[in-house]
Amino acid sequence: MRAAVFYHYGDENCVTVTTLKKPKPAANDVLVKVMATTVTSGDWRMRRADPWAVRLFAGLFKPRQPVLGTEFSGVVEAVGADVTGLNVGDRVFGSKGMKMGAHAQYVSLAADGCLVKLPDNLTYEQGAGVIFGGATALTFLRPYLESRPAQRLLVIGGSGAVGTYAVQLGRMWGAHVTAVCSARNHDLVRSLGAEQVVDYEKQPLPDPGNPFDIVIDTVGKSSFSKCRELLTDSGVYLSVSGGLREWGQMLLSHCPLSSGPRVVCRIVDENANDAKWLADYLERGDLTPVIGKTLALEEIQKAHVIAESGHKVGNLVVNLWET
Ligand SMILES: NC(=O)c1ccc[n+]([C@@H]2O[C@H](COP(=O)([O-])OP(=O)(O)OC[C@H]3O[C@@H](n4cnc5c(N)ncnc54)[C@H](OP(=O)(O)O)[C@@H]3O)[C@@H](O)[C@H]2O)c1
Repeated sequence: MRAAVFYHYGDENCVTVTTLKKPKPAANDVLVKVMATTVTSGDWRMRRADPWAVRLFAGLFKPRQPVLGTEFSGVVEAVGADVTGLNVGDRVFGSKGMKMGAHAQYVSLAADGCLVKLPDNLTYEQGAGVIFGGATALTFLRPYLESRPAQRLLVIGGSGAVGTYAVQLGRMWGAHVTAVCSARNHDLVRSLGAEQVVDYEKQPLPDPGNPFDIVIDTVGKSSFSKCRELLTDSGVYLSVSGGLREWGQMLLSHCPLSSGPRVVCRIVDENANDAKWLADYLERGDLTPVIGKTLALEEIQKAHVIAESGHKVGNLVVNLWET
């Protein structure tokens, strides 16, 4: 099978396309013929080992898993003897999560992993761009938005993979959504449900005034100290790409003696329940994957450059087979 591989950490040039052995599914595994995948911020960060601590689990001197890629969509090619619920020929989408390996024409994963049927109304390209952004936005926002209508939500980075889902979830759950991104993407975020937009090239954040219940920074371009004045006293600052500073602030802001807005960081656990939840809303048309660009596997280096630029729109899809 064809796959994009990298054998040392570095820039996009360390990723090349080669031929690897097709995986064999174990008894409780599903073998998927991958039709489409994405290149995400997670992929370029892993490729660069950025932050350095990535090496502690990905390989100290070189990557243990040479194939990047988390999310994918495709067709079930074979199922292990113990698998029930999925059959050869089913259209599916899912994620390999931190195990990665989706930048390849076939992936094998446990049937009870993050793998569900692809709704009929979604193309493979759309199905590839669901889990990374959708499950992340869902994990962060659900505890604060679902069943709490009329919240005021600020999405910093509203036009990225996570941000486009965050804006849509906000709209779906009845929040008043303000999105921060460049003017190039204002029409897009408005079409997804943002009622107000801020062009970060003119001002990084909205003016303080009518405070927000929730600020979600999907791209790490703000700080809790700068957003504090934008939040209500009981508000939350959701730091999707939180580093050591934000994790420390989360501990401090949750101390019994501290008052005012709190910081929340999380590591997203992509799972079948959330994938099924997303599939249901995608099927109803309440959510739509935003596909900014589609490239071929042979253009994988170009895909890495775009993803690393920090300016990709929604999801950057890579087709695994010639179309
Ligand atoms: N906690 C977890 O478990 C978890 C899970 C998944 C992802 N993440 C993290 O989430 C982060 C976001 O990922 P992503 O894939 O959504 O990002 P992305 O798609 O690369 O975001 C790109 C978007 O950010 C916008 N942007 C750039 N600079 C901005 C600024 N100063 N203010 C507002 N928007 C700006 C760009 O808009 P313009 O083109 O208009 O400039 C672009 O559309 C990554 O750091 C990733 O590591 C964390």
